Amino acid sequence: MLMRLARQTYVRQYDEFTYLFGKVTAFDQVFRSAGPFFAHITRQPKERDAIIDEIVHDYADAPRETVARDFDEFFAPLIAQQVILSGNSAEELDAQEPFFTYDCDDPKTKKDERILTPDEAAALPAALLEKYFAEHPTLFEIQLDITQACTERCRHCYVPEYNPIFLPYDKICEVLDEFRVMGGIHVSLSGGECMMHKDIIKIIKAIRARDCTVACLSNLTVCTDEIINALVEADGTVQVSLYSMSPAIHDEVTRRKGSWLETMNAILRLRAAQIPVRISCPCLRINYKGYPDVMKFADSLKMDAQTDFIIMGKQDCDTSNLCNRLNLDETRTLLQDVILKAVPMNSEYFSPGKKEQMLSAGEWKKRKVCGACVNSMCLNATGEYYPCPGFAGVPLGNCYNDSLRHVWLESEATKRIRAVTGASFGKCAECKDRDYCSVCMCRNFNETGDMFTPAEHFCKVAAINHEVVDEKQRQMIEAAKEE
Ligand SMILES: C[S@@+](CC[C@H](N)C(=O)[O-])C[C@H]1O[C@@H](n2cnc3c(N)ncnc32)[C@H](O)[C@@H]1O
Ligand code: SF4
Ligand code: SF4
Repeated sequence: MLMRLARQTYVRQYDEFTYLFGKVTAFDQVFRSAGPFFAHITRQPKERDAIIDEIVHDYADAPRETVARDFDEFFAPLIAQQVILSGNSAEELDAQEPFFTYDCDDPKTKKDERILTPDEAAALPAALLEKYFAEHPTLFEIQLDITQACTERCRHCYVPEYNPIFLPYDKICEVLDEFRVMGGIHVSLSGGECMMHKDIIKIIKAIRARDCTVACLSNLTVCTDEIINALVEADGTVQVSLYSMSPAIHDEVTRRKGSWLETMNAILRLRAAQIPVRISCPCLRINYKGYPDVMKFADSLKMDAQTDFIIMGKQDCDTSNLCNRLNLDETRTLLQDVILKAVPMNSEYFSPGKKEQMLSAGEWKKRKVCGACVNSMCLNATGEYYPCPGFAGVPLGNCYNDSLRHVWLESEATKRIRAVTGASFGKCAECKDRDYCSVCMCRNFNETGDMFTPAEHFCKVAAINHEVVDEKQRQMIEAAKEE
C-alpha cells in the first residue's frame, strides 16, 4: 500500500504541534505529539510498511504491531478526507487527487457561522494556533508587496506613491527560503499591482517550489494567459477587487478607462482555468449602492465574495483619500443591508449570549489585538518589512540590511508591535462598543498618526453597528414571541 500527501496538503511542525492544511476544502487540523507520524509522509509515494519501519526506528522501544495499529487508526480519517492519499499504485493515488472545480454545486469554501460553545470555539485549529503563536511567535504568513507600481489609481487607495520600484526576484527567493525554514506556510503577493512585475511567473513558481501556498491580490488588468497557467501549476488563488457591475462606476473608482472590462474578462478566464477566485468589493460613496449586484454576480459564478466599508487613510498618514468613504448615514444604510440580509440568523453575531460573553476590561487588556508580528508580517517593494497590509508607516527592518530571521526575532520595532495588547488602547478597553469594532493599530495610525488613538469615525461606526445588531436581536425576540 502506497501513501503520500495530497498535492494541496501542507504540513508544518511547530514544536510538539503538527499543523495540517488541506487547501482544496480548507480542511485544517492541529495534532499534538504526532510529529513522528507525519515526518515520514512526503509528497512522493512511499510504501506504508516502509513508513512504519522508519517510525519504529524513531521509537526504539515500541513494538512494531502497536505502531502499525496506531498508524492505521491515526491516518484513516485523514485518508477519508483525502488530505492523505493511499492506494496500490502511483496511478491510483493520482486518480484520488482532490482538486478545486467550479463544476459542482457549491465549490465555495463555506464559512461555519454556527454559534459555538466557548469549548468548541477554543478547540478550533485556528484558536489552538492563535494560543500557540501568542506564546511562540511564528511567521506563519507573509505578504510581499513586490511593486509600488500600479495600472490603476483607485480613489480610496492607501498606497501613497506608485513608483516603478520592484523587489528583485533573487531577493524574493532569499526571503522565501528563510520564511520556509522559519515555518511559514502562506504567501500573498500584492502591491501596487503584483502582475506588473516582470518576474511574476518565476515568483509564483518559486513560492510553490518552497511548498507554500500562493495567493495574488490583483486588479487583474494585466493578467495574461501565461500568468494564469503559472497559477494553475502552483495551485494559486486570487483575490480581485471589483467595485461595480457598471463599467462606468468601476472605472470611476479605479480612474482607468476600460479597467472594468479588463478585470471582468480576466475573472472569467481564471474561472475557466478553475482557479479559486474571491471577489472583493470595498464600498465607497460612489459604488456602495451597487454592491449587491457584485455579490449576485459572484454568486452566479460560484465565487466567494466580500464587501467592506472600512476604508483607511494612506500609509503615510495622508487622509485625502477618506473623502471617498461612506458617511455615517450611508454606513448605517449599508450595515443594515449587510447585517440583515447576509448574516445568517444562527450566526454568533446575533447570539443572545454575546453581551454576557464580552470580556471584562481587565481580561481584554491582557489579550493581543491582532496577528501583526505574532504570526504575520509584510515586505514592501523598497525592501522594508512592516507589520500588516496598509501599515507601512511603521518600518521594522530592511531586507537589504538584515535577514528575515533577524527582523522577526531581534528588531526592537518588531518586538514593540508584538508586545502590544489591549492595555495599550485605554479608551477601547472600557468601551461598550468594543465587540462591534475592529480595534486596529493600522487604521488608527494611518488616520490619527498614533496607533493607539482611534479615529472618531471608526468609533461612530462601531456604535452604529452595535445599534443595528441590537435592533436585529429585538426583532428576533419579538418574532419568537409571536410564534
Ligand atoms: C492595495 S490593493 C493591492 C492589490 C491590487 N492592486 C488590488 O487592488 O486588488 C489590496 C486591496 O486593498 C484595498 N484597499 C486599497 N486602499 C484601501 C483603503 N484605503 N482602505 C481599505 N482597503 C483598501 C483594495 O481595494 C484592494 O482590495
Ligand atoms: S487599490 Fe490596488 S489597483 Fe487600486 S490603485 Fe491601489 S494598488 Fe492599484
Ligand atoms: S469604538 Fe472606538 S473606543 Fe470603542 S473599541 Fe472601537 S476604536 Fe476603541
